[in-house]
Amino acid sequence: MGAYKLAIEALNAEAFRRLIRALKTDPAALAAMQAAAKDEVVYAVLRRYELLKPSLNERVEQALDSVRPMLKSHGGDVELVGVRPPSVEVRFKGACDSCPASTLTFHAGVKKALQDGCPEITEVIQVKRMAGGSENGVRFVSPFALNAEGNWNPVGILSDFADGAIHAIEVGGQKVILSRNGASITCFQNACAHLGFPIHDGEVANGIITCPHHGFQYDLASGECLTAPEVQLQPHAVRIVGSKVEIRISA
Ligand code: FES
Repeated sequence: MGAYKLAIEALNAEAFRRLIRALKTDPAALAAMQAAAKDEVVYAVLRRYELLKPSLNERVEQALDSVRPMLKSHGGDVELVGVRPPSVEVRFKGACDSCPASTLTFHAGVKKALQDGCPEITEVIQVKRMAGGSENGVRFVSPFALNAEGNWNPVGILSDFADGAIHAIEVGGQKVILSRNGASITCFQNACAHLGFPIHDGEVANGIITCPHHGFQYDLASGECLTAPEVQLQPHAVRIVGSKVEIRISA
């Protein structure tokens, strides 16, 4: 932009600034100005000169944009479902939608970004995608299966696996545990990351299993060890085709 245009821009900005400062001295005029700012052209011009703070919707979009590179690097994304102060509803897409670690991603990433950028938002709701209905009948694929081809082992139907319970089975010569949470199932090697002892008899509470041997605890959604964060349960890929549950044993 040339010097002349820059000077005109600066003059316009200063004129608007003085105009708004003057209007603010009269409550009636201030209310009229706020009403006028609802017009999208007026709003765009005032925003251009930074005379209005970004709207809540803009700040929500900015907050979501700030976490999208991280989500996209894992093959996922997040979409805005609605802004209803003090609540915002979002939905995960792609790999994030079916990821066992989506709870962690939601709280540590999306929810934190929204509440940091929009302090007036006190509730962030994760809207779940409706289960079922993809073209090939696959209702759920764990992220450990993103590039998995072949070697899927059928292990039963969804209703065989009680919600919140641990199911110890042997698949492809490997001892594994399955844990169901609603429409998704995770599968891990039945071996504690501490000393490798079977973990299936451990107590389960709030999505966490406690190893019966020395008390290591694991998040059953991600396999993350809550006792020693540097280790985790070995995951295996799971997919649900129609109502059939299939497992692919990791190498
Ligand atoms: S073998 Fe599980 S805590 Fe030691």
